[in-house]
Amino acid sequence: FFPRMEQQRGLLLLLLGLQLLMMGALLCQNHHLHGFTSSLRFLTQDKPEVSSPGIPRQDVYSNISQIHHVDIRREDLPNCPIVSPPPLPLLGGPLKVMIQENLTMEQVVEKNPLVELGGQYQPPNCWTWHHTAIVVPYYGQAQHLQHLLFHLHPFLQRQQLHYAIYVVNQVNNTAFNRGKLRNVGSWEAMQEEDWDCVFFHDVNLLPEDNRNLYICDIFSAHVSVAIDKFNYKMWMPSYLGGVFALRPVHYLKINGFPNTYWDRDREDNDIAARLELNGMLLSRPHLLFGRYHMLEDGLDHSHEQSPKSPGFLAEIQSRWQQDGANSLGYTLLSKELQPLYTNLTVDITVPAPGAPVPS
Ligand SMILES: *[C@@H]1O[C@H](CO)[C@@H](O)[C@H](O)[C@H]1NC(C)=O
Ligand SMILES: *[C@@H]1O[C@H](CO)[C@@H](O)[C@H](O)[C@H]1NC(C)=O
Ligand SMILES: *[C@@H]1O[C@H](CO)[C@@H](O)[C@H](O)[C@H]1NC(C)=O
Ligand SMILES: *[C@@H]1O[C@H](CO)[C@@H](O)[C@H](O)[C@H]1NC(C)=O
Repeated sequence: FFPRMEQQRGLLLLLLGLQLLMMGALLCQNHHLHGFTSSLRFLTQDKPEVSSPGIPRQDVYSNISQIHHVDIRREDLPNCPIVSPPPLPLLGGPLKVMIQENLTMEQVVEKNPLVELGGQYQPPNCWTWHHTAIVVPYYGQAQHLQHLLFHLHPFLQRQQLHYAIYVVNQVNNTAFNRGKLRNVGSWEAMQEEDWDCVFFHDVNLLPEDNRNLYICDIFSAHVSVAIDKFNYKMWMPSYLGGVFALRPVHYLKINGFPNTYWDRDREDNDIAARLELNGMLLSRPHLLFGRYHMLEDGLDHSHEQSPKSPGFLAEIQSRWQQDGANSLGYTLLSKELQPLYTNLTVDITVPAPGAPVPS
């Protein structure tokens, strides 16, 4: 009896060893075969059981008024259920995106009575494990911001998250620097709360499906995968922008985002490269869930001064460790707690000691 068991164990160990060897060989091969952006590996959510066209689009505010405070101490609240029970189907599916022409900020405030100063919210009737900061780089897109707040607040309340919205407002007439604004937002948000997830969110993207959960899993995530303007197709596999999510530990691992791209869109490939160089996996929601409506950018860029940006992916291998969260220089000009968001106004033309100076 005993010798036989020993034999089996030996065989098992041998098989295990072989498997490890094979996995190692495969990983090595992958590593050598691809350049960095092309081999970013993605994990995609399973196909949903019900496809969206069959489900009617819901108003993002429907039944939201049924959420209220309960007369229990915070410590005694029950855990939030993963999916709300039927009388209050807070999670649903596809959402209507309503763009109201003459919307005022007061109206949006009125529709979201449970949101606290600074744009922070906790489910009043249950205890949640999810703490998500939303960081929105901002460059004067006032109309877009109103539409985003109108849509995003009820969207997040339906998901029963603890969240806050940080708008990082760039002054000075240098070109939009989203990478640096995201770094500032992340830093300032973490000073305030121990967020376990940070969503970096463009101001002009409105989520269209409530099964797109604004929480972090163990991987970083690219979330805005299907945008109406691009016919809901993924248009660049190595692109990481729009809406994406990182845990703070992931953020530090890639040294945040580049501070040196004074332009639009260019930094997004740099971020993808940082993940790739650190061997990090990226998850993506299913194309049916990660749908977004894009508001058109009506900005006038003619007054902007663009300091020189690094060339496309120039020396990213050597640069990412010097340009990022560890070389962030800025002045916080003001921090205003608005009813629906925290307004962080920053002068980002201040360089960190030793960082490249914009000309
Ligand atoms: C709102 O709640 C009622 C029950 O109170 C339910 O019958 C109805 O389906 C809900 N509406 C939506 C759009 O979920
Ligand atoms: C919005 O406001 C403009 C001018 O203030 C007005 O002409 C227009 O009718 C309004 N639109 C709606 C939908 O109320
Ligand atoms: C940027 O704007 C702020 C506030 O308006 C001002 O104090 C600062 O001097 C400006 N910086 C530059 C480099 O123009
Ligand atoms: C943020 O605060 C600054 C400084 O008070 C102000 O000029 C700007 O309009 C505010 N932006 C938003 C979106 O509230």
